[in-house]
Amino acid sequence: MVTRTVDLRSDTVTKPTETMRAAMATADVDDDVLCHDPTALRLETEMARITGKEAALFVPSGTMGNLVSVLVHCDIRGSEVVLGNNSHIHIYENGGISTIGGVHPRTVKNNEDGTMDIDLIEAAIRDPRGALVYPITRLICLENTHANSGGKCLSVEYTDQVGELAKKHGLKLHIDGARIFNASVALGIPVHRLLQAADSASICLSKGLGAPVGSVIVGSNSFIAKAKILRKTLGGGMRQVGILCAAAIVAVQENVGKLEGDHKNAKVLAEGLNKIKGIRVDAASVETNISQDRPPPPNF
Ligand SMILES: Cc1ncc(COP(=O)(O)O)c(C=O)c1O
Repeated sequence: MVTRTVDLRSDTVTKPTETMRAAMATADVDDDVLCHDPTALRLETEMARITGKEAALFVPSGTMGNLVSVLVHCDIRGSEVVLGNNSHIHIYENGGISTIGGVHPRTVKNNEDGTMDIDLIEAAIRDPRGALVYPITRLICLENTHANSGGKCLSVEYTDQVGELAKKHGLKLHIDGARIFNASVALGIPVHRLLQAADSASICLSKGLGAPVGSVIVGSNSFIAKAKILRKTLGGGMRQVGILCAAAIVAVQENVGKLEGDHKNAKVLAEGLNKIKGIRVDAASVETNISQDRPPPPNF
């Protein structure tokens, strides 16, 4: 009897495909700290194209992608970022924006669908006239899909509205798009449109897309130029990184098309789990690749 184990702990628990391994073995490489690795440049060019941004930068992890992005936008001491109280950056990234970057977080309650009410976001933005005592709001962060809300997708309309709000107050908008390809597939909207209102985004290649390592951040040329320096400061400059980028290129080429199947499987799993006594998963609310049986999020 053949036994096949399906590991459902996370979409990060993947193995590189044969094509990825072959691409890694034959990758054309050079020193990427000197900005000369052709495969890294190929991945970055392609990710900039897909996301509709001027430039992209490969980073070792989503955590570093978010950290670098927040710190580039908040390059003045005393900066504050408005973000969800149940967001990955706030809950699961060791408070790096504060501990490493000296950026103050101002949380707004995340709704069950991962959004924050626009009026609550606006209320959280500091009045610059109080700058003698207040931190300076510089940035708003969204997360799409929103992991702790069960992989819910933020709509284009909502993201655009937050983008308008950011503009109105002279702020930047960063999207933690660790699973933006999942949102794109589930909503049937291209990634570049979902990110149109954002000044920057961090996108994971090693989650549903199945690459072994890495994320990219995307934004304007000047944003990426500053991000490159900060990545080096944080120890994220890597030499022949094309080895990793080669697998990531394959992941983007081959695996975006498989996400729809992942989403269907997550729904089937949720429906099945619901039939087990003691487990309750709201199958109807599964939008992407997460089916979770969790208590409501604590009041962080
Ligand atoms: C929404 C979200 N953002 C960022 C990250 C961080 O990615 P990494 O684990 O590559 O640091 C994760 C990881 O699970 C995530 O779910």
